[in-house]
Amino acid sequence: MKVSEAVESRRSIRAFLDKPIENSTIEALLEKSARAASGGNLQPWRISVINNESMDKFLEFQKNWTDPETPEYDIYPKGLKEPYKTSRFKVGMDMYSLLGIGREDHEARTNQMLENFIFFGAPAAFFCFVDKQMGKPQWSDLGMFLQTFMLLAQEEGLSTCAQEAWSMKPESVKEFCNTEEDLMLFCGMSIGYEDKDAKVNQLRTERRPLEEWASFI
Ligand SMILES: Cc1cc2nc3c(=O)[nH]c(=O)nc-3n(C[C@H](O)[C@H](O)[C@H](O)COP(=O)(O)O)c2cc1C
Repeated sequence: MKVSEAVESRRSIRAFLDKPIENSTIEALLEKSARAASGGNLQPWRISVINNESMDKFLEFQKNWTDPETPEYDIYPKGLKEPYKTSRFKVGMDMYSLLGIGREDHEARTNQMLENFIFFGAPAAFFCFVDKQMGKPQWSDLGMFLQTFMLLAQEEGLSTCAQEAWSMKPESVKEFCNTEEDLMLFCGMSIGYEDKDAKVNQLRTERRPLEEWASFI
């Protein structure tokens, strides 16, 4: 697969088949992803993989976790500006209308959102952490790593969904993963085989035209 094909065909997948993945496959993908560029070659990503058995244990652990959790960070800025606000609104609307969920159907929307916390049925996932000492430049390095992983997974025939939603559950995630004190949680990453029959996976997200965000000086 060409890089451009991987970029073009990658999409966030939100329903997976119940088909296991070998740890060795994920390990190889992670190893290759670490070729991602990072400022000063800091390689600030820290990853905890849960797969098959540990996935079952984790989902059970999550179900039994009752303590309220404090979100790790604000997922979006307060008072999100245009055009970002519209893009965010649009992708949500497109997904819910695809699923036949009405604007006022808060329960159905919540239920769809809660799918995040079962990794949309994926058999495997990882959490991406970063040292609390790191700043914005290193956080952008995490994005480099994550996109590289998603493209390599695509090449491998696997699908993914990056998930900031997990930043709302940092205490339970860190407890389960036995995470070092110095680390904070950035996101989760669902990994698995796409359920091609699932409606939610028909979502094709839009991009704003180049003229709106690039200029040649
Ligand atoms: C860092 C990051 C975090 C994300 N978090 C979530 C999430 O918590 N839940 C979700 O359903 N999608 C999440 N997404 C997926 C985005 O909604 C998606 O990338 C965007 O709408 C563009 O769609 P595409 O990935 O299909 O091209 C996340 C994407 C990124 C890059």
